[in-house]
Amino acid sequence: MANYKLIIFISAILIAQWANIFAQQAGNTNAIYSGLAWYDQNGKVVSAHGANIVMKNGKFYLFGEVHSDTSNAFAGFNCYSSKDLYNWKFESMALPVQKNGKLGPNRVGERVKVMKNPSSGDFVMFMHVDTLGYKDQFVGYATAKKITGPYQFKGPLLFNGKPIKKWDMGTFQDHDGTGYLLTHGGMIHQLSTDYKSIIAETNPTIATGFESPTLFRKNDTYYFIGSHLTSWEKNDNYYFTAKSLSGPWTARGLLAPKDKLTWNSQSTFVLKIEGTKDTTFMFMGDRWSFPKQHSAATYVWQPITFTGDSISIPQYLNAWTVNLNTGAANTIRLNHKILLPNNKQISYSGNWKSSTIDSIPIIRSNDPKAFLSFKFNGKQIGLYAYLLPDNGYAKVEILNNKGEVVVKNIIDLYSKSPMSQLAFLSPILNKSEYQLIVTVTGERPNWSDKRKTLYGSTGNNITIAKLIIL
Ligand code: GLA
Repeated sequence: MANYKLIIFISAILIAQWANIFAQQAGNTNAIYSGLAWYDQNGKVVSAHGANIVMKNGKFYLFGEVHSDTSNAFAGFNCYSSKDLYNWKFESMALPVQKNGKLGPNRVGERVKVMKNPSSGDFVMFMHVDTLGYKDQFVGYATAKKITGPYQFKGPLLFNGKPIKKWDMGTFQDHDGTGYLLTHGGMIHQLSTDYKSIIAETNPTIATGFESPTLFRKNDTYYFIGSHLTSWEKNDNYYFTAKSLSGPWTARGLLAPKDKLTWNSQSTFVLKIEGTKDTTFMFMGDRWSFPKQHSAATYVWQPITFTGDSISIPQYLNAWTVNLNTGAANTIRLNHKILLPNNKQISYSGNWKSSTIDSIPIIRSNDPKAFLSFKFNGKQIGLYAYLLPDNGYAKVEILNNKGEVVVKNIIDLYSKSPMSQLAFLSPILNKSEYQLIVTVTGERPNWSDKRKTLYGSTGNNITIAKLIIL
């Protein structure tokens, strides 16, 4: 009898946990949302930074760096898949931390890029390998028979028997299937037919710095995007164009409006989405957030605008869609109810100050005990913040009507360039009563690089502009 009761008790706990997980409806995201956490089919935050996307049989496969909130050490490369670019399914840790060696414990592994090799049919993965202090860098590679892995780490990619001692890297596959390795500074190296070594230097360095090298081709023009060298801090990314990969490369200026810091992101890849009527080139950038890179670093994916052969991201789209049949990108309006900070239904605890920035009403606090609370009946809630240079991390929690936490995340409200943006959007929940709690954490993103330069926020404020209920 006692055993029987114990089984019922354990089953009840498991059912309660199961119900909690399924308070979230995976698979219903209807757009590409930049600057906020994405959730996979298990309700876990998507961790895939410094990423690229490979298409196979009508599916998109996203590869990216796994991060933790406590250390910068290599934590593996994840693989997710999606049929629509909105909902991401965790597939595998394509390359885990190795038992020992150059991608073993306490090493750095970044900017993973995967390409399918046209001659062997194998998948080849490239990455930046380094020490934790970024003092022994080289480009490494790994191979797999299946796109989702497991990938076998093979060590350094060699050119004339020597490793490529560069840190930031990217890849590019040309229309004829030839593969190229891109390294910071704008160097381009041609890969061998099997992609497992380098056979030629196609282009020499074109600019100092020029990190996060990202290259794509539209018709007969090559576009080469890169960032300045400011560690995890975002800067105004810029680009070059050429008619041949070996140049000459022409400097074309900034990708986004000046001082917007590429909409607070750093380039990593451009995905071509070709449809029957249109082709969308999607810029993929990282909004880093050191040290909480797992919870709070996000993705900035935006459609690129072409004017002749000039490119730009003239405005930041919180949410947009891409029609995979026609290839056309569209902005969407979120159909929601808005609550401004002074709404009586929102309660505030601790010290908060109301004001306006650019006539946008905001409320702000850096009191480490402060939180706001809001009860709602709905299936999704979002939060617009005013990102500011003295903002820090906020904790966002959603509680169900039993007081159980069904969603919890840390969000980063810091940006060196002030901007009002959607900073949190919950997963779609079962329609019910919930409580949103947003707390000041008293923590902020800040760090120093290997040259001991200090970066990051100057304060722990959180600055809220409005809540939205969908
Ligand atoms: C730059 C690089 C990243 C990473 C950080 C480390 O942002 O592009 O890949 O190496 O620096 O500071």
